Amino acid sequence: MTDPSRTPTVAVSNQKGGVGKTTTAINVSGALNELGNDVLFVDLDPQGNATENLGMMEAYDAEPPTLFDCLTDPERRDSVHDIVHDHAEMDVLPSNIDMTAAEPELTLSRRSGEQLALLLERVDDDYDFVVVDCPPNLGNLMDNALYASRNLLIPALAESTSKRAFELLFDHVEALELDYDITISERGVVVNRIDVRKNQATEMVDWINEAFDGVPVWEVRERAAVQKALENGSSLLEYDPECDMCEVFLDVAADLEEQFAAREVEA
Ligand SMILES: Nc1ncnc2c1ncn2[C@@H]1O[C@H](COP(=O)(O)OP(=O)(O)OP(=O)(O)O)[C@@H](O)[C@H]1O
Ligand SMILES: [Mg+2]
Repeated sequence: MTDPSRTPTVAVSNQKGGVGKTTTAINVSGALNELGNDVLFVDLDPQGNATENLGMMEAYDAEPPTLFDCLTDPERRDSVHDIVHDHAEMDVLPSNIDMTAAEPELTLSRRSGEQLALLLERVDDDYDFVVVDCPPNLGNLMDNALYASRNLLIPALAESTSKRAFELLFDHVEALELDYDITISERGVVVNRIDVRKNQATEMVDWINEAFDGVPVWEVRERAAVQKALENGSSLLEYDPECDMCEVFLDVAADLEEQFAAREVEA
């Protein structure tokens, strides 16, 4: 069971690279903010794309303490308060160049998958939602994101290669559930960069809808404004509120609100 007393936390995960994790994480955070939620965005990817997109390169290049220290050294967990950065739409725990050493470092630590959860406990009371942007591999960082969140939002491309990516992801999630005796809930799939002129895209969207029975599937079309918004340091909702894809991200946010409200009622 996900713990309903905890702040709703969602890991935006798919070990396949370039499928729209960062784009989805930033835009869903922007949409949650638009709906009146206080959002903490966690950039767990050592590449730091979201940190750069959100205009925080100085944090990526900063000297310790950084997210790396807070995550890998229990004695420095409290420094997390010092590294939360302000953005117009959300608070941000930025990635840092040192995060490239986090995978091996976490392997050496006790309770290697639980470190992000222990860190977020320090700050998440201040927020309505926590959104974690994951790196593109099935490693310790991804495990930390899944363990801390227990909730999964899966961005994917409308390509046949996505089938194998889903298989690998779910094998991994199942193994983690068994290892830690936890339940991880799929909260939705965001099919990204859809080009409706391609038959393969429509076929894949149909396949995903069938395969993910009972899990919401959203469709984001290929739009220059989506890319430009990130280059401009904000979500699409801030950058181009007229863009037709804003509605999709607002739908995802509203649905997450609903799913988590239902979770509280059940408890
Ligand atoms: N709907 C869209 N329309 C146009 N461009 C998009 C759209 N979604 C994503 N992109 C672009 O696709 C590229 C990959 O997206 P993104 O960085 O979000 O993927 P990712 O899964 O986070 O990648 P990585 O695995 O490297 O972390 C980016 O350049 C992004 O701007
Ligand atoms: Mg990314």
